[in-house]
Amino acid sequence: MNNIILTGFSGTGKTQVGRAVARLLGWEFLDTDEEVVRRAGKPIARIFAEEGEASFRALEGTVLQEACAGDRRVIATGGGAIMDPANQALMEARGLLVCLEARAETIHTRLGGPQRSPEEEVRPLLEGPERLERVQLLKGRRQAAYARAHWTVHTDRLPLEEVAQEVVRAWQYLSGRGPGEPVPFAGDADLAAVVETSSRPYPVLVGWDLLSRIGEILGKAPIADPVYLVSDSRVFEHYGRPVQQALQEAEIPCHTFVFPAGETSKSLELASSLYGWLAERRAQRGHTLLALGGGVVTDLVGFVAATYNRGMHLVHLPTSLTAMVDAAIGGKTAVNLPQAKNLVGAFYQPRLVVADVATLKTLPQRELLEGWAEAIKHALILDADLFHTFEEGTELLLALAPEPTTQVIRRSVAIKAHVVSQDERETTGYRTLLNYGHTIGHALEAGTGYGRFLHGEAVAVGMVGAAHIGQRLGVTPPEVVERQDALLRRFQLPVRCPGVDLGTVEEAMALDKKALGPSLRWVLLESLGHAVVRADVPASLAHEVLAELAR
Ligand SMILES: NC(=O)c1ccc[n+]([C@@H]2O[C@H](COP(=O)([O-])OP(=O)(O)OC[C@H]3O[C@@H](n4cnc5c(N)ncnc54)[C@H](O)[C@@H]3O)[C@@H](O)[C@H]2O)c1
Ligand SMILES: [Zn+2]
Repeated sequence: MNNIILTGFSGTGKTQVGRAVARLLGWEFLDTDEEVVRRAGKPIARIFAEEGEASFRALEGTVLQEACAGDRRVIATGGGAIMDPANQALMEARGLLVCLEARAETIHTRLGGPQRSPEEEVRPLLEGPERLERVQLLKGRRQAAYARAHWTVHTDRLPLEEVAQEVVRAWQYLSGRGPGEPVPFAGDADLAAVVETSSRPYPVLVGWDLLSRIGEILGKAPIADPVYLVSDSRVFEHYGRPVQQALQEAEIPCHTFVFPAGETSKSLELASSLYGWLAERRAQRGHTLLALGGGVVTDLVGFVAATYNRGMHLVHLPTSLTAMVDAAIGGKTAVNLPQAKNLVGAFYQPRLVVADVATLKTLPQRELLEGWAEAIKHALILDADLFHTFEEGTELLLALAPEPTTQVIRRSVAIKAHVVSQDERETTGYRTLLNYGHTIGHALEAGTGYGRFLHGEAVAVGMVGAAHIGQRLGVTPPEVVERQDALLRRFQLPVRCPGVDLGTVEEAMALDKKALGPSLRWVLLESLGHAVVRADVPASLAHEVLAELAR
């Protein structure tokens, strides 16, 4: 039961449900129809028209085989894939085979409405008049194959999210994970992702106004009393009292420590003060540290949690966009030394992350925008569909409209969670994908003395640089370069760095290179949502592109 494979007729929601299931489990999502379209370079209807159904089925078979070769994947398959006996055997062997079922009338209605899913492309078999009859006929022919699934979920009356939860429950039940070891917060509407780690999985909740319910949420976690709430002065001013009050209402005893806001607090000195404070209160290993704030708070408190008493429980309550989509997920904790940032630290995973998106309303505008750069980066490297959502919803996101903003942050969080789940300690190379835009970005920050660019701003310029490098290597299509550029501009992020001293920036890049080993690895985009790592970018090309950005 290493994968979950979804089958079922068009219009049963395989793509959307699959995406949601992957998010709930922290797994990778693959859609064979999407992959076929990508490889063929044309929509399914055109493959059918120009090359015939047999050619489509052959490519579908290859794609399915490759998809099933991996582990911990949710794979949405085309409605007809299971009709091939070889495919059927493969699907049964390589995972939990779940059929999404719906009545012909429901499918007819669903396919009639506006649809953007790749399912739409499969309609060549359903085109023409009397579609209901055609659905009934084709579905009837396939029914015996669908009946081979290990589990069937009837989707007629269920919202997508509930179908996804039903699939997760089936997996828990049939894979023997059973009720003894449930996915934490499975079924919670705010659950954005579960991060799989070597120690234990942890849930990431993303929702609107969650801090006011934090006592109740911690009660469900559950965590042991008392809790040690740590925050910085600016965040505490806004959210300290409400959090304390919510804890009090849930009868969770709480000690509070507030330190001055700012990057300089991410120091060994402050860590040391925190150790002393915890020792005076006789904090124990089973007690919980609550990190309420931006990346500075999550990094510092994470580091203290990792080291005090050889490890206390840790819950992150990120309040900046950077902390929500990046710092709070993945277990990297650190403090700065005068010699370099983040030089002392540890991998240490929290037990729970609760991101209250409503807190972004008080985050200064520039910090908000730089956070969007990292969130957009996640879409660029792994999720073309999320990139479209960014393009379509820019205005609503910039205005922090609760529903779309929460949704988009949930999806961006799920991507980071997925990458971390695949490569917890940066050993397999998969986590490298997150460094898209960071080769130039880091050098820009360091080369300008950390004074001119916020991290996300430097990454935005870095992504533009990587895209231009990719284009000139023939890796990145020009259309991708343009759309990335346009979206970053709409999020008011810098896409150039006029006037920076090239020498200093390149020196910083060389230092980075030394730290990373013999070859500088560049993350480049092959298409929207598909990143690759390349070690063969000539230094002269990087120089050329940097020089253009600095003009
Ligand atoms: N561990 C990781 O994987 C990782 C990833 C990215 C960044 N980081 C680290 O995170 C730090 C940057 O994160 P950051 O930008 O959140 O910095 P930060 O924590 O300093 O927050 C920026 C400023 O915004 C304030 N603030 C935060 N949330 C607020 C809110 N809701 N309302 C009003 N003010 C608010 C803070 O008090 C601070 O003044 C860096 O130290 C970086 O190294 C770590
Ligand atoms: Zn970053």
